[in-house]
Amino acid sequence: MRTLLVVAGAVVALFLTIAMLGTAGWTRPPMAGQQIGYRGTGMDLIRTRAGNEALAEANQAPAPADPVEEGGEKASAVYQNVKVLGDLSADNFNRLMVSMTEWVSPEQGCTYCHNTENMADDSLYQKRVARRMLQMTQHINSTWKEKHVHEAGVTCYTCHRGNPVPANIWFENPGPNAKSGFIARNNGQNVATPEVGLTSLPYGVYAAFYAHKNTPDDAIRVNAQSALPESKGKPIQDAEKTFALMISMSQSLGVNCTFCHNTRSVAQWGESTPNRVTAWHGIRMVRDLNEDYLSPLAGTFPPNRLGPQGDVPKVNCATCHNGANKPLNGAHVVDAYPELAKPVASADMPAGTPAQPATPPAAPPAPKP
Ligand code: HEC
Ligand code: HEC
Ligand code: HEC
Ligand code: HEC
Repeated sequence: MRTLLVVAGAVVALFLTIAMLGTAGWTRPPMAGQQIGYRGTGMDLIRTRAGNEALAEANQAPAPADPVEEGGEKASAVYQNVKVLGDLSADNFNRLMVSMTEWVSPEQGCTYCHNTENMADDSLYQKRVARRMLQMTQHINSTWKEKHVHEAGVTCYTCHRGNPVPANIWFENPGPNAKSGFIARNNGQNVATPEVGLTSLPYGVYAAFYAHKNTPDDAIRVNAQSALPESKGKPIQDAEKTFALMISMSQSLGVNCTFCHNTRSVAQWGESTPNRVTAWHGIRMVRDLNEDYLSPLAGTFPPNRLGPQGDVPKVNCATCHNGANKPLNGAHVVDAYPELAKPVASADMPAGTPAQPATPPAAPPAPKP
């Protein structure tokens, strides 16, 4: 009997080992640890070597287009309807059009944005969105250079990766249809959603933390500031929202909490890494992009591009980061396209951008559960 159990145990162990080595989702050596904080604090980024290689491979920046000769007539003189790129030479303008096509619509080509009968025509919503995207990219590379994107910068490819719709976008999440459930209200949580790592934490955190520039500065902060309570403090639900957001941020960057925090005391800035400061600005940048660049496009996007609540598709950390702590392996993608780093001439929507008449006005935001 005993021998039989030993043999059976050995067989099970063997099969489990084979399963572990042969199936996805298991972390197996060799590991590649990277020290993030002071020695002894356990602040390490632990990935597998194979995982690191796969991550680097999946985040290659495309080679920039060959430079064109300087000079020649300006695009504004050659073309009829250029509102953002008029200062470029016509050659440089065309170079950028070709690159934009590779970055955003390689399969669809120029016709994704253009009515090829008349290139100056603005009738396609894609072209009107792209014009705003040009301004947004300039805004990111100029206004947010010091605080977040540094010399690396972004191009359309950072988010789009060869797709008209970036892989990582978000809409307001109405949650499951509460009327048909057993419990009428789930308080915005207890549903396994991917954005919070399939935990039961609140799923509406993007709308709560990433949509508005006037979000109070302490919205994410939940730790007490004093040893003994001096006031009522925040409810436990706020702590759950903060943890949900933090899980989403960690996933977006492919890191763990110690990439930014010394978990001895997560709130203390003095013990946090510089990454946390970059992330703090990243949160503000995301709010800025969503409020000033994406949301005003509500009347431009056709209804089939809007979310279940009628809101526009929006940006979060993963839109640029795509699971890597440095998007596109930290390549300085904007170097070869200085026109995308110029300060935006006017932050407003370009004049003469008609809202699509067929589009109903954006639905009002859903009431908070
Ligand atoms: C992702 C959208 C997009 C794609 C793809 C695209 N364009 Fe454009 N194109 C624009 C936008 C936006 C403008 C207006 C730029 C401005 O206002 O400064 C424009 C303007 C132009 C103009 C100026 C027309 C005029 O007279 O006003 C030409 C020419 C042009 N594009 C050529 C091309 C060619 C050729 C391709 C394919 C290789 C292409 N575009 C692909 C978005 C796009
Ligand atoms: C910070 C990330 C980001 C950058 C950088 C960016 N985009 Fe976008 N883009 C988005 C998001 C988010 C959407 C909304 C997705 C959707 O349309 O459903 C979008 C939508 C678009 C669309 C409309 C696609 C459709 O059919 O709905 C076009 C066209 C476009 N972008 C062009 C560009 C161009 C051209 C550039 C570079 C000048 C650029 N984008 C840079 C995030 C970005
Ligand atoms: C990419 C950097 C980054 C990662 C990774 C990260 N955080 Fe944070 N965390 C921040 C920033 C930035 C703030 C402050 C946000 C603010 O003040 O607006 C913060 C705030 C917090 C707070 C609130 C602190 C306070 O002042 O009350 C908690 C709790 C927290 N994080 C926990 C976590 C946990 C748990 C993880 C891992 C699941 C994690 N964080 C991962 C950057 C990060
Ligand atoms: C518009 C694109 C974009 C968005 C959106 C974005 N980032 Fe970044 N982020 C970058 C770029 C580009 C870099 C690389 C800068 C460099 O190489 O110095 C970067 C770098 C970082 C770093 C430093 C990583 C390192 O290894 O040095 C952190 C931390 C970070 N981002 C956190 C965030 C968080 C958190 C969010 C969301 C709240 C966010 N980012 C949103 C573009 C973006």
